[in-house]
Amino acid sequence: MIVRKSPAELEKMRRSGLLVWRILGELRGMAVEGATTLDLEHAAEKMIADAGARPAFKGYYVPAAGGKYPYVLCTSVNNEIVHGMPSAKRMLKQGDIVSIDTGVQLDGYFGDSATTVAIGEVSEETKRLMKVTEEALELAIQQARAGNRLFDICGTVENHVVSHGFSIVREFVGHGIGAKLHEEPQVPNYVDRRQENPRLKEGMVLAIEPMVNAGGPESKVLPDRWTAVTKDGKNSAHFEHCVAITSNGPWVLTRP
Ligand code: MF3
Ligand code: CO
Repeated sequence: MIVRKSPAELEKMRRSGLLVWRILGELRGMAVEGATTLDLEHAAEKMIADAGARPAFKGYYVPAAGGKYPYVLCTSVNNEIVHGMPSAKRMLKQGDIVSIDTGVQLDGYFGDSATTVAIGEVSEETKRLMKVTEEALELAIQQARAGNRLFDICGTVENHVVSHGFSIVREFVGHGIGAKLHEEPQVPNYVDRRQENPRLKEGMVLAIEPMVNAGGPESKVLPDRWTAVTKDGKNSAHFEHCVAITSNGPWVLTRP
């Protein structure tokens, strides 16, 4: 069942969304050569606490990993797709890209967003990868309208990515979000015919999060049981926003 949110609930999700946006903006500025991904973690942890919010990821139980995620951020560098863990040993260097993903819970409701940042000059292919992934998210957001169907979102991401010669990660997907971090429906970045194709209705909120690989689509999880990486070692980009379906069209909760 897809839970629809009342206007009052959407206002609460808006507050979580804007907190996440503020955190990611701060972290984008901190993501420079010489910073470690643990520096980003510490800044985010403080901002979440100062706002009186709760981190959404830290302590979140993921059955496939067999445990609770230990950080407030996922920081996935270069060929890491998602769920990279902040570390004092991971110093960002010229030419890296880092996906920064975080979520918070404020007054009961969740916000979740991710962005990918380039450290200094990156290769032309990597610039294109980031651009196409972000464009895919923006085009998909425009499909988050009452009367459309879920596959309009999924198919829009898929077409944009594939037509630019990149590939879509299939093992990780977007999701509904609200009083839980992960709600129905799953929002794959491709049309998955095994899944239902519900009509989108006012009050639904979706976390749309394209994860796009420069090379092949195949991923594997490292022995730490969290970090997902590309099998071919090529870069992967990730952008995410929470979008509410309203009578006025798509409302991106995780930016002003
Ligand atoms: N944005 C990701 C998601 O929605 C990150 C979750 S990390 C986790 O699934 F640890 F909380 F699972
Ligand atoms: Co998410």
